[in-house]
Amino acid sequence: EKGGYRHFMLKEIYEQPRAIADTIRGRVMPESSEVVIEEFGLSEKDITSIDRIFIVACGTSYHAGIVGKYMIEELTRIPVEVDIASEFRYRNPIITQSTLFIAITQSGETADTLAAIRQARSLGAKVMTICNVIGSTASRESDFVFYTHSGPEIGVASTKAFTTQIIALYLLSIAFGKIRGCLDDRTISMLIEDLLHLPASVENSLELDNEINNIAKELFKAKDFLYLGRGINYPIALEGALKLKEISYIHAEGYPAGEMKHGPIALIDEEVPVVVLAPSGRLYEKILSNMEEVKSRGGTLIAITSSDGESAKRLSTYSISIHGINDYLNAVLLTIPLQLLAYHIAVLRGCDVDQPRNLAKSVTVE
Ligand code: F6R
Repeated sequence: EKGGYRHFMLKEIYEQPRAIADTIRGRVMPESSEVVIEEFGLSEKDITSIDRIFIVACGTSYHAGIVGKYMIEELTRIPVEVDIASEFRYRNPIITQSTLFIAITQSGETADTLAAIRQARSLGAKVMTICNVIGSTASRESDFVFYTHSGPEIGVASTKAFTTQIIALYLLSIAFGKIRGCLDDRTISMLIEDLLHLPASVENSLELDNEINNIAKELFKAKDFLYLGRGINYPIALEGALKLKEISYIHAEGYPAGEMKHGPIALIDEEVPVVVLAPSGRLYEKILSNMEEVKSRGGTLIAITSSDGESAKRLSTYSISIHGINDYLNAVLLTIPLQLLAYHIAVLRGCDVDQPRNLAKSVTVE
């Protein structure tokens, strides 16, 4: 049932090109530069009357939510707040009838997320759930459902569920941006074109597997890791750190790279591998200067950069290159090497990758 792979997690990492294609299928019309959203049940009026979006989720799904904030705010200009479900429910959130509440949950059974959905509805918000499991509690209790269709995820560590959640948010951002008049047809066509290239680019990222395994062999004995990213890649750094923590039991932290100098840089020495997300794009120069800061303090840099990221490669002990597409979709492409790195490190440490200690696939207690 693992399809020849040693673990479900590895199989699910490798399924991502197919999973992403399934999330996209039937939802874009490249000829007419359109995202098809009829199936979700939201009317144009629902979309034009939104004045604020809340995204609420736990764990990896929460990281997808932060990625979503960057995309939605940029492409639709609707203010977005992202919250961890167990925090959201214990404060007094400002919700009105023009709030769209988006819950992100692979399983659709996470207790804290369900409680947040119920609270948001009772306060009058419209609720959309981005979910993988058809017929789950969250999908039944929401006004609108966006199924990611990534297929059953067995490994406890979420992989394909995460990348397809990002695709769902990308599609919603384009659809909302169009209806609200923030995106012209040319931009939409480009965003859709880019998306249609994504499965093939994810295949390219998967081809880095051997290279990443070799890097893992150099690093698997480390006690702490740092993951740095900026902008939309900051939540990807959080996700990279979470993957490593949960399956290899190595302490890891994700940080916005610009925040290093406000404290965490004190942690840097030769013993701490620092994984930096440094794709070319708007923030490339900024991230290079953060890499200089780490390097001058003796840290071991592992850069995930673009094929043309010469400076990032020069500064690093190890580097891996992705074939970049656009700033949004690069977040997905950068995730793949982080999943593989965590996987190989965990295997080298003899950990039970699919069933990490103390963890369950869905957390049905609050
Ligand atoms: C991490 C992981 C968890 C889940 C979290 C939410 O790899 O799998 O952090 O993301 O428990 O689960 P769902 O998305 O099912 O609500």
